[in-house]
Amino acid sequence: MREELVALREQALRDIAGAADLTSLELARVAITGRSGGLTRAGEQMRHLSKEERPEIGKLLHEVRTAIASALEARGSVLSAAAEEVELSQIDPTLPGVARTVGSLHPLQHLQRRAVEIFRRMGFALSEGPDIETEWHCFDALNTPPDHPARNEQDTFYLPDGRLLRTHTSSVQIRAMEKEAPPLRIIAPGAAYRRDEVDATHLAQFTQMEGLYVDQGVTLGDLKGTLEFFFRELFGPDTKVRFRPHFFPFTEPSYEIDVRAVALGGGERWLELAGCGMVDPAVFAQINDRRGDQAFDPDKVTGFAFGFGLERLAMILYGVPDIRMFVENDQRFLGQFAS
Ligand code: PHE
Repeated sequence: MREELVALREQALRDIAGAADLTSLELARVAITGRSGGLTRAGEQMRHLSKEERPEIGKLLHEVRTAIASALEARGSVLSAAAEEVELSQIDPTLPGVARTVGSLHPLQHLQRRAVEIFRRMGFALSEGPDIETEWHCFDALNTPPDHPARNEQDTFYLPDGRLLRTHTSSVQIRAMEKEAPPLRIIAPGAAYRRDEVDATHLAQFTQMEGLYVDQGVTLGDLKGTLEFFFRELFGPDTKVRFRPHFFPFTEPSYEIDVRAVALGGGERWLELAGCGMVDPAVFAQINDRRGDQAFDPDKVTGFAFGFGLERLAMILYGVPDIRMFVENDQRFLGQFAS
């Protein structure tokens, strides 16, 4: 038994020393100390020994075990240091690092936040409505008769159940008046959808921003003052705003707003930017009917509403030549608005 143990130790230490890499070292370890390894089997032999032999052989076995364990450990650390060395030699520490780019707001989001912030300062609260609307909210309640071209199948995305993708955010005016009584002052940015041929100035989905103010004694002067303030905050104090008579079914009188400002390319030309007007009493009548009260009594309250497209505003403000750039998700374009 004694000789066997000594031979086992010699062989084991030789195998360990001869292991060329971590894999062969692991194989050697299993062959020696594994369940059917030489050392394990030697341990099992112990119980066949006589009482007299046991202490001496036991002591020797312990020594062999310790020697093998420390040889395994020593060889292991030599080999893993060598392996790490090889790995490190494959890394080129002189290569430049990979810079992480920080994301930024989409230019439309950025403009929308700026616009909302300006209206907030004038006491307007954020409001919203669904993109999938009923014909009533999108048209009937807005005094838009069934034969109006906006309701045409060619201009509007209808769903099989008769609802539609809202063609403007004016439906949010209706939603707000259904829920709240005057005084009411809301701003509602959101998507609008039209069956437009997509080109450099049209998308089938775009972004609008709606405003509505209803209270006792709201006048056309308030409308003009509010929008003039807004455009001057956005484009600078030199901005000129012009109200040109127009027609919308749900406002009377109605105007289109033209703006001229240095920020908008020299300030040489008038740019048509928004629609607006005083809420038509016919709209209040629809709302009162629906609510079953007289909260929007046309003899007591008046209001104004306005709406404009954010893409058009952003195109002029940032000099974007093609509206499709807003939806192409091209980092080279979007990265220019990082701030
Ligand atoms: N909804 C109109 C449009 O999309 C704009 C508008 C809003 C006009 C509110 C008047 C009042 O063209």
